[in-house]
Order: sequence, then structure tokens, then C-alpha cells
Amino acid sequence: MNKIDVVLGLQWGDEGKGKIVDCLTPGYKAVARFQGGPNAGHSISIGGRSHVLHTVPSGIFREGVLNIIGNGVVVDPVILQDEISKIEALGIDVTGRLIISKRAHLILPTHRALDAASEAAKGKAKIGSTLKGIGPAYMDKTGRNGLRFGDILLPEFEQKYLTLKKKHQQMLSHYKDFSMFNTDDYEQKWFEAVNALRRFPFVDTEFLVNRELDAGTPILAEGAQGSLLDVEFGSYPFVTSSNTLAAGVCSGLGVAPSRIGRVYGIFKAYCTRVGSGPFPTELFDETGESLRSIGKEFGATTGRPRRCGWLDMVALKYAVMMSGVTDLIMMKSDVMDGFDTIKVATSYMINGKETAEYPYDGGTNAQPVYTEFKGWKKDISGVRSFEDLPAELKDYIAFIEKETGCPVRIVSVGPDREAIISR
Ligand code: GDP
Ligand code: IMO
Ligand code: MG
Repeated sequence: MNKIDVVLGLQWGDEGKGKIVDCLTPGYKAVARFQGGPNAGHSISIGGRSHVLHTVPSGIFREGVLNIIGNGVVVDPVILQDEISKIEALGIDVTGRLIISKRAHLILPTHRALDAASEAAKGKAKIGSTLKGIGPAYMDKTGRNGLRFGDILLPEFEQKYLTLKKKHQQMLSHYKDFSMFNTDDYEQKWFEAVNALRRFPFVDTEFLVNRELDAGTPILAEGAQGSLLDVEFGSYPFVTSSNTLAAGVCSGLGVAPSRIGRVYGIFKAYCTRVGSGPFPTELFDETGESLRSIGKEFGATTGRPRRCGWLDMVALKYAVMMSGVTDLIMMKSDVMDGFDTIKVATSYMINGKETAEYPYDGGTNAQPVYTEFKGWKKDISGVRSFEDLPAELKDYIAFIEKETGCPVRIVSVGPDREAIISR
């Protein structure tokens, strides 16, 4: 049976999914996003120029590839339309390359306002949301109030919009300083964008995907965010509002579990996290600062500095287990080229007890127990074959493979498309 392959982030997002999807895409005829929304920022660096995608799947730069925005995605029309304009400005005709599920939910301007109001009300306990309206949009989806792309085609669309907007305004009125959250300007752009997007097919993508799989078409599912931001199994409540694990592919595209093929799990050679929430291996010292500056660890969507720390094997093994990862892909090894010593957390101490299991609270009180590795102290950015990698890096990779029980198939050594080593 022809199966759908999956690319997932195994940490807290920003592992390099965009780059890898772009690199793998020549082997596929379609790329499909199955969850998340414009909270994602997937960078693809081509010829030294970085392109950031939020909603459009990362197969868009390859000719002959269909890009599908699946039912599990929440879409802000303004952001999607803006992305499409930027891609078209590069001389790429997006027509014929992009289709949208009729079941994909719309992010309304008032969802953004509710996101901002909710975060402001939380004060210090805020999640550190990207403020793109993700949480409120998924709340309306599960609360059975949402608007979907298919609804745009109905004569009563505007009426449905106004009904939901009114409900949101009532909710907003319960927040302090709610008048701050004016959405009038954005609303005008929103309707313009909705109209502009009508040129793309709104489709029952679950039928299309299954039909194409039956016909033998190779399809790649592209995850957004990371495994530890999964609403079910991540560091709740400091998570996003969708299922970022492989299971999300089934509900987010309409494919059966038996149709999941290879699961490519992407991780950085260290860890980063944006926003609030537990991060046991976080570094507050010069090493953390070096990871941030050398790795250019600033959010692709919000520009916020990313928190940086050592690789966390407890969290990585958990992510591999939860999604049945078949192949690992290690990113940004080049960032640690100058390090004398590299550490990996192999267990946590929690209240005096050692554990290698990722705890339900994401390790709020966990003290990492580290294993140390010798750094390779060599510039690896120009290396293109696995054999030519320094012995110390090969040892580091062998350790990760032994711990996770999963082969590292690709090592990425720089942002560009070509900076990649496959085994
Ligand atoms: P995504 O959200 O998972 O797609 O990841 P982001 O695009 O948000 O963040 C990854 C960042 O790392 C981007 O700026 C990439 O250009 C960059 N990047 C990807 N792979 C590598 C690599 O191997 N080395 C270096 N130095 N940068 C990389
Ligand atoms: P990509 O796809 C990193 C984080 C936010 C916040 C939490 C909830 O580029 O890896 P939300 O806006 O979803 O309500 O925010 O999740 N977050 C991400 N962090 N990369 C992302 O996407 C993220 N999307 C959301 O910072 O902590
Ligand atoms: Mg990102």
C-alpha cells in the first residue's frame, strides 16, 4: 500500500522543518500541511536568501509539486494572501500549485483580539503565544462555532461571520481595556484577502489525498510547531492548540493510521524554545548566548530571541516514541563547531528521584543529569559526505542513535538547500 510520509519537529519548534521539507520535496508530488497556522515560521534558504512561510507548505518552491493546506490547519486569509504575493513577486506562479481544504478553519480578526486579550489577562502566567489567534480559532473549532473555507462559498457567509464576530465582541467586553483590541482595519483587509483567495480551489482534500495515495502518488505531510508543543502530550499548558505528533496527520488530512509511512523526526543538535514554559536544559550563561548568536536563534514569525540549551534526550526519546519516528534528521550541528564540550541530558532528577520519562508537567522542577562529549572544533559547514565528518561528531550521532534506537539519516550543516549530508 502506498503511504504518506511525514516530517515532524521533535522539540519545541523551529527545528528546521521548512528546510528539510524543501530538500525532500523532489521525491514527492504533493506536500500537505495538517495542523497549526500562521504561528509557524518555516524558513527556506535558497542561494543565501531566506524565505519564510507561515501557512503555505514548504514544497511551493519546487515545480510540479502540489501544495495542500489540509483540514487541520487554521488560516488567517490576510497572512496567507500576503505570503502568496511575496512568493509571486519571486516570479513563481502559485496558481495550480496550491489548494485549500474546504474544512480548514478561518482565523477571524476577533480571534487575534481574543488571543491578545487572553494573554494580557494572564500576566506573568502568559503562554507567550505568537498572538496570531491560534488558540481562539481552535477553541471555536472544537466548540463547534468556527467558520471554514467551504463557508466562503455560501451566500450567507457574511452573516455567519457577523454572528461569530458578535459573540467574540461579547467575550472581549469581559476583558479589562478591551477597547484596545479594535479590529476594524484588519477586518477590511480580511475580506479583501478572502476574496483574493477565491481564485484557489477549495477542495474536499481528504478525498484528493486518498485518491492520490491509491494511485501511487508520493505525498509528504509537513508538521508545524514541535512535539513538545502538542496540546495533548506537550508541556501543557505551555503548548499550541493542535496535535503536532504523527497522530495529527490522520485527523488533519483524513488518512488512516495504517497509511502512515516513514516518519522523519527533525531535531537540532541542541535545543531552543520560544515563549514561556518549562525547558529543563535551558542555559542562562555564555554558552546559551553563543548558541543564540551563532545559530541566529530569533523567531521567524515574531523575531523574539529563542531560549537556548543543551540537547535533551529525555524529551527527544519521548517525541520519538509518541510519533513512531523511523528516521532522524539532525540540524544545525555546525552551530556547535567551536565548542570544547557538548552536553546532553540523559535523565532528570525530580524531587530527589531520577527518571528518564518526560513528566506530565514538562519538567517544571526537573534537574537535568548530563553526559559530556568532546567538541569537534572544526568547521563542518563545507562537509558534504558523512565519512568526512569529524570523529567526535560521529560519536555524538552514534550516541543519539543508540539512545533513540533510530538512525540519523540526514545531517544538516548550514541553512542553505545544499548544506546537507544524506546517508
Ligand atoms: P522550522 O520552523 O522548523 O521550519 O524552523 P525555522 O525556519 O523557524 O528555524 C530554523 C532556522 O535555522 C532557519 O533560520 C534556517 O534557515 C536555519 N537552519 C536550518 N538548518 C540549518 C543548519 O543546519 N545550520 C544552520 N546554521 N542553520 C540552519
Ligand atoms: P514552527 O512551525 C516555535 C509557541 C509560541 C508559544 C506557544 C503557543 O515555526 O516550528 P500559539 O501562537 O500557538 O498560541 O503559541 O507555542 N509556538 C512556536 N514556537 N515554533 C513554532 O512554529 C511555534 N508556533 C507556536 O511561542 O510558546
Ligand atoms: Mg519556525
